[in-house]
Amino acid sequence: MAAIDEGVTVRVPAKVNLSLAVGPLDEDGYHGLATVFHAVDLTDDIHVRPSKQWECTITGPYADKVPTDGANLAMQVAHRLAQECYEAGPVSMTIDKSIPVAGGMAGGSADAAAAIIAIDQLFDLQLTKLDHLDLARDLGSDVPFALTGGTALGSGRGDELAPVLATGRYEWVFALQHEGLSTPAVYAEFDRLNKRRKPRRLEAPEEILTALRTGDPYELAGAMFNDLQEAAISLMPRLQDTIDVGLSQGALGAIVSGSGPTVAFLCADRAAALDLMVGLTACKVADDVVSASGPHPGARVVPNNRLT
Ligand code: C5P
Repeated sequence: MAAIDEGVTVRVPAKVNLSLAVGPLDEDGYHGLATVFHAVDLTDDIHVRPSKQWECTITGPYADKVPTDGANLAMQVAHRLAQECYEAGPVSMTIDKSIPVAGGMAGGSADAAAAIIAIDQLFDLQLTKLDHLDLARDLGSDVPFALTGGTALGSGRGDELAPVLATGRYEWVFALQHEGLSTPAVYAEFDRLNKRRKPRRLEAPEEILTALRTGDPYELAGAMFNDLQEAAISLMPRLQDTIDVGLSQGALGAIVSGSGPTVAFLCADRAAALDLMVGLTACKVADDVVSASGPHPGARVVPNNRLT
């Protein structure tokens, strides 16, 4: 076994959907999507090292909300590769979690993507990029984007990715809630609310793509939308107050992130983001407030001497 004794650490970003158009439910229980993913530098670190027995430890502010058993997507990746690849075996895994759990920022998917890269490197499996993507797709709709990061157009279930020409950096503030929202529950509420409406045509969001080409945060803020926002607010009405307060305090735009309940505020620059963080914290419209900027690369190995 060519495993690296000191282990391997992979850093992986959270995502926000700059636009999220949701089509009707298909026969597999999924909705067709047209979305623009954007990765931000709010990250989880996954560390794996070879071990005699399987172990999983979670650290960070969300540690008590993450399963360490077979329900953990990152551990599922490790078990699966150990079954499928002769070179791989049991690992001791530590997940240092900063991405909110059940927050609509693809935290679980991010950890799964990180585990693919980490286990491949640890046991020198020499998997191809296509192997990574196939495995990622199988694990969940948001996992492929956590591998690629940056800014990308997602179609299908959100798992078919195409690059987007994007310039500039964008400064965000995220208003987090301790209580999560279940993704299937938000999609079910979306179906209930849209029962009598004409199904949405899924097409590339031209306004968003144009704004990203120019790199102008004002233009981007005006073009952002999320079809799941109404459903998320219906299940958690206080999200509307969070949005209203953030906009009244100078955010350029506000959007529920994915299936929520995290609310993402786009700001003019870093100074404006810091001001908004202070303002939102003082108003107590969220359980926690963090800032981040994007785009950020997808899951990448962090050299052991560069770990901070
Ligand atoms: O693929 P993932 O496991 O992240 O999806 C979780 C759930 O979210 C699915 O079981 C489905 O109920 C819902 N979903 C959906 N349409 C999508 C993606 C997810 O209805 N495109």
